[in-house]
Amino acid sequence: MSDTSEKHVSKRECLKSTRSRIILAIVALVVIIAAVVPSVVVTTLHKNNSMGPKAKVFVPLYVYPAPGAWTPLENVISAHPDVNFTVVINPGNGPGPDSLPDANYTREIPVLSSYANVRLLGYVYTSYAKRNVSAIRNDIQTYADWQTNSSNPNLAVQGIFFDETPQQYDAQTLTYLQGLTDFVKDLEGLGPDKFVVHNPGAVPDSRYLATADSTVVFEAAYSTFQERQGAKLFTSIQDSNRSQLCAIVHSVPETIEGKSLRGLVKEVRRVADEVYITHLSTDYYASFGQKMNEFVGLMAA
Ligand SMILES: *[C@@H]1O[C@H](CO)[C@@H](O)[C@H](O)[C@H]1NC(C)=O
Ligand SMILES: *[C@@H]1O[C@H](CO)[C@@H](O)[C@H](O)[C@H]1NC(C)=O
Ligand SMILES: *[C@@H]1O[C@H](CO)[C@@H](O)[C@H](O)[C@H]1NC(C)=O
Ligand SMILES: *[C@@H]1O[C@H](CO)[C@@H](O)[C@H](O)[C@H]1NC(C)=O
Ligand SMILES: *[C@@H]1O[C@H](CO)[C@@H](O)[C@H](O)[C@H]1NC(C)=O
Repeated sequence: MSDTSEKHVSKRECLKSTRSRIILAIVALVVIIAAVVPSVVVTTLHKNNSMGPKAKVFVPLYVYPAPGAWTPLENVISAHPDVNFTVVINPGNGPGPDSLPDANYTREIPVLSSYANVRLLGYVYTSYAKRNVSAIRNDIQTYADWQTNSSNPNLAVQGIFFDETPQQYDAQTLTYLQGLTDFVKDLEGLGPDKFVVHNPGAVPDSRYLATADSTVVFEAAYSTFQERQGAKLFTSIQDSNRSQLCAIVHSVPETIEGKSLRGLVKEVRRVADEVYITHLSTDYYASFGQKMNEFVGLMAA
């Protein structure tokens, strides 16, 4: 009997310890699940929500500043103080022939430049480095003189946007472009930044990159952007020189909105530090697309 009793006791003890092991295991499992699952869920959500690196909104503002015409842009700029804007102004294929632009410009430029999150650039074309250097210098000097000539510290640009810069390397062209950048950097009246942007419209010879603070490596339609993405054209420059790059995608189909516009903004942000996306397919810089606010909202995300 005692044997049986002993056996019985030991069996119960055995049962007891099995049960407590099971309970322990369940508790451990619950603890593990509680610890791991939320972080997995949060990571997944975070991944889905992440828009990648932040980028500045780049606006080629070739809209004539008739009273109220720049208001949609000013509204979206003041609605997003956490987003930086680089805005190119172009009074007359450059600063125009006179020492100051017309009264609509002299009224509106100070309004734009008074926003802390705006950097204004003056448009100057170079005709693929064929334009007379003294004509270009005159244009740059005219922008730089606006402040003193108008006695208005806010009537000013903080750098120059050089349009039509070349892609193919040429030692003389490099000297030409570097000379213009040196001219800008030495001038008073172009703000603290004296920011220089080149627009070859496509990825240029990499030896040109260092002559500008930023380079437009893509300026084309949505369909072309999709082709270059597909061809992995941007992958080589993605991480290394992103901070020096600008990308402009126009002619985005109206159907690209909501989730798919979000996807596009994310893709372009990965390529470049300055981004402009518009659904307009003709005269895309002469007015604002209807989805401008949605685009800027996604840049803020
Ligand atoms: C915006 O500009 C400010 C001031 O220059 C800078 O500190 C900040 O990093 C910029 N943000 C982005 C996203 O470029
Ligand atoms: C300003 O713009 C308005 C509207 O386009 C135009 O009628 C007016 O002549 C412009 N003013 C100047 C000084 O050019
Ligand atoms: C550029 O223009 C200036 C002034 O009109 C002229 O003196 C100079 O010869 C021109 N330079 C070239 C390379 O054509
Ligand atoms: C203002 O513009 C006039 C006309 O171009 C020019 O002669 C003058 O030197 C400029 N004044 C200043 C202070 O920049
Ligand atoms: C990055 O830019 C520098 C000059 O700023 C250039 O020397 C270098 O080749 C660039 N890298 C790539 C991958 O384009």
